[in-house]
Amino acid sequence: MAVPPAPRTPARLVVLVSGSGTNLQALIEASTDPEYGATIVAVGADRDGIEGLARAERHDIETFVLRTSEFEDRPAWDVALADKVASYDPDLVVLAGFMKLTGPAFLALFGGRTLNTHPALSPSFPGMHGPRDALAYGVKVTGATLFVVDEGVDTGPIVAQVAVPVLDGDDESSLHERIKTSERAMLVEWVGTLAREGFHLEDRAVRPGPDHP
Ligand code: GAR
Repeated sequence: MAVPPAPRTPARLVVLVSGSGTNLQALIEASTDPEYGATIVAVGADRDGIEGLARAERHDIETFVLRTSEFEDRPAWDVALADKVASYDPDLVVLAGFMKLTGPAFLALFGGRTLNTHPALSPSFPGMHGPRDALAYGVKVTGATLFVVDEGVDTGPIVAQVAVPVLDGDDESSLHERIKTSERAMLVEWVGTLAREGFHLEDRAVRPGPDHP
């Protein structure tokens, strides 16, 4: 019987960002500890001039930018993204505020080992505006969800969730900042666990460790 390979140590991470990169920063800081078990080999983005890329550069992490506007269509961008990420030979890909949907070419290579973090409690409020939509709905508790990316919008198997209260007087920004504080801790904890132990799926449940220990 084939034995699944032990996770590489440290696991190689490619992180994709579109914005300020505070989640990336948390991963960068965690990965400076050899015990964490993961190293960021590259940071990619779909746009220039963002703080997420600057954070990577300040830590001498390789960066790349692939803008959708440079490609004939979205599928061509998706193929280029898959090829570029593959060139870093990652064990895990982490979407940390990456505001694009990955497509079939990307998922053919990295499906099952791409994690995304979303600022809402899935399955509520998928999409680009999780905090805004939660506030508009009037929920009293929202949060963040770490999940394994599939072809849907924020629909993949859930790794972890953290609940965050909505307070009277919150606006989108104050709520999102409170969510992000908890989101960063969840991301660091679970990326480390999955990088060190590997993981497998039992239906929709994400279980650390090899499939048949
Ligand atoms: C995070 O809250 C992340 O969940 C969200 O963008 C923020 C990025 O913050 N992602 C999405 O909304 C994706 N649908 P950061 O750039 O400071 O890490």
